[in-house]
Amino acid sequence: MAESDLRGIRACVFDAYGTLFDVNSAVTVQRPRLGEHADSVSASWRSKQLEYTWLRSLMGRHADFWQVTQEALAFALERHGLDKGAEASDLEDSLMQAYLQLSAYPEVPATLQTLNQRGYRLAILSNGTPAMLEAAVNNAGLAASFESVLSVEAVGIYKPDRRVYQLAVEHLEVAREQILFMSSNAWDVAGAASFGFRVVWINRFSQPRERLPGTPVAQLTELDSLPDLLPESASH
Ligand code: LAC
Repeated sequence: MAESDLRGIRACVFDAYGTLFDVNSAVTVQRPRLGEHADSVSASWRSKQLEYTWLRSLMGRHADFWQVTQEALAFALERHGLDKGAEASDLEDSLMQAYLQLSAYPEVPATLQTLNQRGYRLAILSNGTPAMLEAAVNNAGLAASFESVLSVEAVGIYKPDRRVYQLAVEHLEVAREQILFMSSNAWDVAGAASFGFRVVWINRFSQPRERLPGTPVAQLTELDSLPDLLPESASH
């Protein structure tokens, strides 16, 4: 991709979960209690969490991401037979608390620093509640990097509803095509590109592309080479 393809970008907006923060790190501390089920619990927790966001949006029955995450975890634990016994509720609570302290992917701090130094405005746009996002950002020591941390709670519906992406336009007061959006979630890439952002797909897990409208301008396997795609300094 030619550098000129990303001329005019003023703000870099990041998805949170899966893109900046490793959602699978939530099970790390509880691995001994989850045993052989740890990876499978983590995968079904995440997929059920996302399904619930889409379904609640379609049903017009919004509940915040903390509730959805907890309900998805309850489903995943029951599916694996981990919902019974004296320690079951402590296990669920511990996993939920771990969601507030997810690890950032290793390349994240340096990438954000480089983009900041080059004058790009940085924001998060996520399904997470303001409290969840604040906890994750603070825990990872990233608070100073972001001008704004935007939650879907401001509009009461989940990605990929267009009102969510519009939040970033309104909050940052830039045109949608001046925003470069990064997500590892291919369906979020499709939604954001359909909305009119330029989008870089951080394809961390070597997934095939979604057969959906909305195409990314570039694809990376992690964030560290993102600054190489962008002009040396941000547009103003
Ligand atoms: C988010 C989900 C999509 O952070 O990962 O919005």
